[in-house]
Amino acid sequence: MEREVEIIRSVVYDFTGKTALITGGASGLGLATAKRIVESGGNVVIADYSDKLAEVAADIKKEFPNGNISYIKTNVTSEDDVKAAVEKAVTEYGELNMMVASAGIGGANNAIADESLDNWEKVNAVDYTGVMLADKYAIMQFRKQGKGGAIVNLASMFGLVAVPTNVAYSAAKGGVVNMTKAAGVAYAGEGIRVNCVCPGVINTPLVPEDQKQAYRDLHPMSRIGEDFEIASIIAFLLSDDSRFVTGAALPVDGGYTAA
Ligand SMILES: NC(=O)c1ccc[n+]([C@@H]2O[C@H](COP(=O)([O-])OP(=O)(O)OC[C@H]3O[C@@H](n4cnc5c(N)ncnc54)[C@H](O)[C@@H]3O)[C@@H](O)[C@H]2O)c1
Repeated sequence: MEREVEIIRSVVYDFTGKTALITGGASGLGLATAKRIVESGGNVVIADYSDKLAEVAADIKKEFPNGNISYIKTNVTSEDDVKAAVEKAVTEYGELNMMVASAGIGGANNAIADESLDNWEKVNAVDYTGVMLADKYAIMQFRKQGKGGAIVNLASMFGLVAVPTNVAYSAAKGGVVNMTKAAGVAYAGEGIRVNCVCPGVINTPLVPEDQKQAYRDLHPMSRIGEDFEIASIIAFLLSDDSRFVTGAALPVDGGYTAA
């Protein structure tokens, strides 16, 4: 689906000298965030299991020739892979300052009585355990550096209200919301902030094209969101402008969860 609204960037952030690791950065919300950070002077390492990693990084470099962009093939369900991704960021750029945990899958649309253990475990491995591993290794690195750090997890509005026809996704995203609160409070005294965004339905490859129209009608704004509209909020939560915000779960959903 074509974008319904034009890209706007009314706020300019300065991430010069800061390094972000972005899981799931090869597509959708992670990719939009990668571009926003590179454009704002930050260094970005994309950690994704996509075969298009090199192509995606080359495209970002073409769009922002002065930007620093690297990548590492990563499966976020593997502890060794996530650890290696953090090490890559540190080796490449000296330290890690920001983590965006955006790798995710939708899984099968099953209500609980129809759920298979296979689908449940697949979805939770990526959408729940994968976020925990990303946060864990980022926080370990932040603590080593002793200068704080900022994490943004991709939860979903379906972590705040359920989608009854997808129990695994609802459970995983609800878990990410509460994991974010637990981590945010645990490290608040060390200058490490952990927040999550709870997007409504956004126009990315995750959402099947044939479902986008139906979803438009469910949002009070009568449209779905665009990737850059989430990237802007992520950039805000990574920036020092939000330095008194931690453990927050911020809906960015055109009013869906307020209705
Ligand atoms: N698009 C939406 O409507 C929407 C709404 C709410 C929340 N979210 C969440 O935002 C995040 C990003 O979604 P998106 O719309 O950008 O999806 P997307 O499909 O466009 O991108 C997801 C990326 O994650 C990567 N990925 C998937 N599994 C992985 C794994 N095991 N290891 C490493 N990388 C893996 C994919 O290769 C892909 O590049 C997800 O967590 C999703 O649940 C999306």
